[in-house]
Amino acid sequence: MDARPDPTRVRAMFARIAPRYDRMNRIMTLGRDSAWRRATIEAAVPRADGWTLDLGCGTGDLLHLLVTGGARRAIGLDPVEEMVSHTRERLGGRAILLRGDALTLPFADATLDCIVSAFVLRNLDDLGGAIAEGYRALAPGGRFVALELTPHTMPIVGPVARTFTRLAIPWLGGIIAGDRAAYTYLAHSIDRFPDCRALAHMLYERGFRKIRYRRFMLGSVALHSAEKPIPATPTWRA
Ligand SMILES: C[S@@+](CC[C@H](N)C(=O)[O-])C[C@H]1O[C@@H](n2cnc3c(N)ncnc32)[C@H](O)[C@@H]1O
Repeated sequence: MDARPDPTRVRAMFARIAPRYDRMNRIMTLGRDSAWRRATIEAAVPRADGWTLDLGCGTGDLLHLLVTGGARRAIGLDPVEEMVSHTRERLGGRAILLRGDALTLPFADATLDCIVSAFVLRNLDDLGGAIAEGYRALAPGGRFVALELTPHTMPIVGPVARTFTRLAIPWLGGIIAGDRAAYTYLAHSIDRFPDCRALAHMLYERGFRKIRYRRFMLGSVALHSAEKPIPATPTWRA
């Protein structure tokens, strides 16, 4: 198994599963993903006049919640057209939609108020680089909020949940999404993703502060939030 996801293969896989992605999500999470997405938006506290980016917006579930929750300045970004086209149909002109990459965001320094993401970080080939890039694009006081599947660490529940993810999810993915390989990848991508503490540490190392996380669904899903600090003293012009 490769240590990092291969971006070309990841994009081809999301292009393939795009038409059945939402249905598979609802089934895999027993419908709980909507509540976790709401918690993601609540943790971000987007300002109505600030720019909020949904990183890796996919078919637009999070972005939809953002705009229906009152965010007038919402942007969705994703490299896969097959995913973005669903969002375009769903949201019309209510958000700006961009094809792009988490590692090279098309924004000037310190311009965004929030970056939110759901189930995206695991798929990136350079997680540290993407966190640093998010930090660059956020304004001081801006928030980075990420919902993600996380390696199971609980003593008894962990091994049971891991077995379920390794066996049942690929099987369901074969039946429902017609793509067993994509959902086998999903199980591997969780195993190689940093656990909650390690991800919090990565955020800290890249400059974020006020880092918090909480877990859902017996510890299999984590929501991290972090803030780009406001400098304690002003920076003076030379
Ligand atoms: C599991 S889906 C999540 C989609 C959506 N955020 C949701 O909540 O359902 C992962 C998404 O990440 C996107 N993605 C993959 N590599 C990316 C990258 N380098 N930068 C931004 N998004 C990426 C994929 O195209 C896909 O839409």
